[in-house]
Amino acid sequence: MRSGGSSACLNHTLRSSIAATVKSAALALKDVTDDRWLIYGAYGYTGELIAREAVDRGLDPILAGRTRGKLDRLAEDLGCDFRAFGLSDEALPQLLDDVAIVLNCAGPFAETYEPMVGACLESGTHYLDITGEIEVFEAIKGYDERAHEADVMLLPGVGFDVVPSDCLAAHLAERLPDAESLALGFKAEGGFSPGTMKTAIDGLGEGGMIRRGGQLESVPAAWKTREIDFGDGPAMATTFPWGDVSTAHHTTGIPDIEFYLAFPPSTIERMKYQRYLAPVLSLGPVKSLLKSLVDRKVDGPDAETRETTDALLWGEVSDGEQTLTSRLRTPNTYRLTTLSALEILQRVLDGDAPVGYQTPASAYGPDLVLSIEGVERTDEPAETPN
Ligand SMILES: NC(=O)c1ccc[n+]([C@@H]2O[C@H](COP(=O)([O-])OP(=O)(O)OC[C@H]3O[C@@H](n4cnc5c(N)ncnc54)[C@H](OP(=O)(O)O)[C@@H]3O)[C@@H](O)[C@H]2O)c1
Repeated sequence: MRSGGSSACLNHTLRSSIAATVKSAALALKDVTDDRWLIYGAYGYTGELIAREAVDRGLDPILAGRTRGKLDRLAEDLGCDFRAFGLSDEALPQLLDDVAIVLNCAGPFAETYEPMVGACLESGTHYLDITGEIEVFEAIKGYDERAHEADVMLLPGVGFDVVPSDCLAAHLAERLPDAESLALGFKAEGGFSPGTMKTAIDGLGEGGMIRRGGQLESVPAAWKTREIDFGDGPAMATTFPWGDVSTAHHTTGIPDIEFYLAFPPSTIERMKYQRYLAPVLSLGPVKSLLKSLVDRKVDGPDAETRETTDALLWGEVSDGEQTLTSRLRTPNTYRLTTLSALEILQRVLDGDAPVGYQTPASAYGPDLVLSIEGVERTDEPAETPN
């Protein structure tokens, strides 16, 4: 008995030690040799732009998504490996075993982040996405502790939403370290992709969102309107529930945050009607109908539009005495998304991936955006009341 017990014990110890050695060898292997990265939603409008640019740069992404037919056409065209799987696949973590980074481009992200973040945590894979959805940023922030335990970075929002505005927020906070309020906004030309429209439809009827006293607060649609000089003269803009209401607080700690989008005054008036139409616009069948219209009618900006249009961002901080303004000019929003996602991806491939939940500027600082081709930043001198 005794000897059987000790041999069982020895076997157990041996098995445990072999298992531990295999696990640490596997982890070491993942750390040292894995420069494989996977783009999920690779054949969507934005996923494909990023995949094509990545291949042009000599990178070798694994293309992934749930619809095999769309995936193998793109994979053949780009000469890449591909993996077809849906997000309810129980083997999701195993499918990422040899993958160092996932770039999730499948949105609306409220429908995709949870299984993908869970699989990344289980398989020790860094997670990036191009969301702009406030509730997704807030939810992923809640995985911070698990990300530290798993030694991975969770960095949602590596596209136009929110790289430039987050870097602008961080820059303004550096200029005025005791700032109490932050307002950000942008004016952009060039139109929208199908996924952006569908994500916006998901938000219909929900009104606006700001941050006050450090807390997120719901406000009516088009709650405040003001004239803003985004860099080419005054334009009307109204509050809009943009991702920075979540992320800029994480990046800067500033307690009061509002985000503005430039629209023609007639559009701002129409946005206010949402307040009365909310019960209808929130209905699932209404949203499904609008999304099916998007599927039939919206292709997204073409190559010429992406090359010839740009975006202007504006930010203002105040500590109650001084007010400071800074601005950015960037390439077209979808071009910027392609460039910023790949800039961040390359940094992670180079081993620069601070663990835990991150925003673009908390991970890489306010000047991250200046490393992207075609981006310029300008600062206005301080304004002090007389
Ligand atoms: N951060 C930014 O600045 C920025 C820029 C561009 C886009 N976006 C966001 O990125 C998302 C995609 O935009 P897009 O225009 O590229 O969209 P799109 O052309 O409609 O493509 C969406 C992609 O996501 C996949 N997908 C959607 N729901 C899925 C689910 N539940 N499970 C698995 N795959 C799913 C689709 O696969 P199937 O075709 O097989 O359904 C498709 O590959 C949107 O949420 C958009 O707002 C953000």
